[in-house]
Amino acid sequence: MSANIHQQRNNTQDSDKESYVLSLLSKMTLQEKIGQMSQLNNDCETLAISIKKGLVGAVLNEVDLDTINELQRIATQETRLGIPLLIGRDVIHGFNTIFPIPLGQAASWSPDVVEICAKISAIESSNSGVNWTFAPMIDISRDPRWGRIAESLGEDPYLCSTLGTAMVKGFQGDKLSDNTSIAACAKHFAGYGASESGRDYNTTNIPENELRNVYLPPFKAATNAGVATFMASFSDLNGIPVTGNKWLLDDILRTEWQYRGPVVSDWESIPQLVTHGFAVDEKSAALEACNAGVDMEMASDNYAQHLTSLIKSNKININKIDIMVSRILKLKFDLGLFESPFTKSTASTKHLNSFHLSVAKQAASKSCVLLKNSKQILPLSKTKIDSLAVIGPLADDGYEQMGTWAFDGKAKHSITCLSAIKDYVKDSVDVKFAIGMETSRSNNYDGFCEAIQIASSADVTVMILGEEAILSGEAHCRSNINLPGYQEQLINAVYETGTPIVLVIMAGRPLTLEKILPKVDAVLYAWHPGTMGGPAITDTLFGEDCPSGKLPVSFPRTIGQIPLYYGQKNTGRPASEESFVNINDIKVRAPQTSLGMTSTHLDTHYSALFPFGFGLSYTKFEYKNIKVSKYSVPMGESFKVAVTISNIGNIAADEVVQLYIRDLVGSVTRPVKELKGFKRIFLSAGESKNVVFTIHTNELAFYNRQMVLTAEPGLFHVWIGGNSDTKLKTEFEVLCKKKH
Ligand code: BGC
Repeated sequence: MSANIHQQRNNTQDSDKESYVLSLLSKMTLQEKIGQMSQLNNDCETLAISIKKGLVGAVLNEVDLDTINELQRIATQETRLGIPLLIGRDVIHGFNTIFPIPLGQAASWSPDVVEICAKISAIESSNSGVNWTFAPMIDISRDPRWGRIAESLGEDPYLCSTLGTAMVKGFQGDKLSDNTSIAACAKHFAGYGASESGRDYNTTNIPENELRNVYLPPFKAATNAGVATFMASFSDLNGIPVTGNKWLLDDILRTEWQYRGPVVSDWESIPQLVTHGFAVDEKSAALEACNAGVDMEMASDNYAQHLTSLIKSNKININKIDIMVSRILKLKFDLGLFESPFTKSTASTKHLNSFHLSVAKQAASKSCVLLKNSKQILPLSKTKIDSLAVIGPLADDGYEQMGTWAFDGKAKHSITCLSAIKDYVKDSVDVKFAIGMETSRSNNYDGFCEAIQIASSADVTVMILGEEAILSGEAHCRSNINLPGYQEQLINAVYETGTPIVLVIMAGRPLTLEKILPKVDAVLYAWHPGTMGGPAITDTLFGEDCPSGKLPVSFPRTIGQIPLYYGQKNTGRPASEESFVNINDIKVRAPQTSLGMTSTHLDTHYSALFPFGFGLSYTKFEYKNIKVSKYSVPMGESFKVAVTISNIGNIAADEVVQLYIRDLVGSVTRPVKELKGFKRIFLSAGESKNVVFTIHTNELAFYNRQMVLTAEPGLFHVWIGGNSDTKLKTEFEVLCKKKH
């Protein structure tokens, strides 16, 4: 039998699809059903043999178009039932065109940017036969030691939900069956970002209230956005590894949220239930994962090996398997795979075309966060400087600027900062380059002399430092998040030349920069900016673009402050400027009571070095006149909060206007600030705009002691400004619902 049996399925309605899935299921052997539940990563020959036997539902990490078409041909024409394959690939921040790492995209605070990057990723990857990506990664990430923070959308539930939703839309388009759409995957459900000490794969202990209020909202938002698939996390959540966690995968995801699509395990996370000490052997691991609600196993074969005997011995009911398999088949229908399993390549014209590259450039430019700009050294002007020293291991390295998870990007397609700067200034500025250090981790002074030499004779030095791609991402965690290797020493050495320093940082995480800040005149944080990083950074340095990125994570001063995030609780003894005592100010043998008695460290300030939402511009914005449309807001109603924002500089620019609230008293304590809205707006020089946010009291809801999502009456503060530290505040109260 062949794929022909699936013809005439075009334009089927949902009910038709369901009945077709049921009829297909009724024809399937148990082995074929279990085959659909397996995603394999083998070599092509082995895969072909397994596919012919009906043992494979999905393939992982194959991106060669001809191979994929051949595998689809085998699946649809050489198997009994002709069921097409899911082809999964980690298309995390681009396919051939590499966009900024997700944390960088999050710094754009632009759902439009995130959506178009995902859209292009879908166009390029679907053109190679991929139909499923394992993104967005929407784990709330509050520990910059964790390498996977690079893949995340940052620390905040609201920002992460909004941008995660945009990413899902970008990948999936209007219809999954469009040939440029691919299925998205909300991962890693849930809590993975809380891995202890930022060590990957580590234990997470997250009280249910915190889980529901902080870690789950982005996943709920992805469900609402129609995300096609979910991935169960590797991690142990409160003693029950997620891959075997029925409460999370079934009670919450399926029953509470009514999510209908398939859940895939993470890579070998089913056999890892044994390693966790949660299952005695792989057979019981398969039982636990299946009972918890993992529909498809990634990479390992515990389902293939053990589900048959578990079903035969009545440990698992066949109806459960049928439901799981039907979710996978339904996804294949939704993707239009039964109708058109093959991909016709329009490849060379679509990959890395000029539109994709221009979006990549814009995304990188909107992701750059200006952290310091003393004496307005930036923007540089090619007419005002004669010579420029470009220094650093990341200045001319097309590979490293792509960052983590860039399997299908090629270094040769990247435009580096050095080449973009040279191209921009042409003959008007003398550009000299010294690498300074062979890699970002080098622990020697070998390249220092040359760097010092070119800096000494230049008008300005641009240092391009940070972390190589390999220092962030999965299993690439750091216990120290300073500039690695001898980079601080290199900055110190170049500082001694007296030439002003503009520091550009490419990195997969926030780094601790407090020590080097006084040595540099400007800092532009570019994350790993992707293929078009060089032109984006160059245009920003020279004022063709105005920096407008804002931090999606707080930047700690020292590693010891972690976890540090703006939405912390107030505590019973909050830190304050008045009570803060610095270690250097403690008198010898002072009575202990003189040390402030608030929630601080003695040896660093209690605040972030740069707060969440922070980012400078080449212009200045002034916020005033914050007003609420009504002071007393009845529960169940909306109200407006408005502010006047003016561009009081002389450069036209974007600003990200941010609205935060604080619920002063709650049945469970509430964060000192919570982002509830943001808008990226454009203001010409001298222009003022009235920016209005509409808030419904439902948006003030949180999970209470009974784990019910509800808004509570009482007093709220509301702030609007350009970062989470904004002081422009007013207040409103929410009134109890009127009794009728
Ligand atoms: C990662 C996932 C990824 C999967 C497939 C795992 O190691 O945790 O995020 O999607 O591999 O490559």
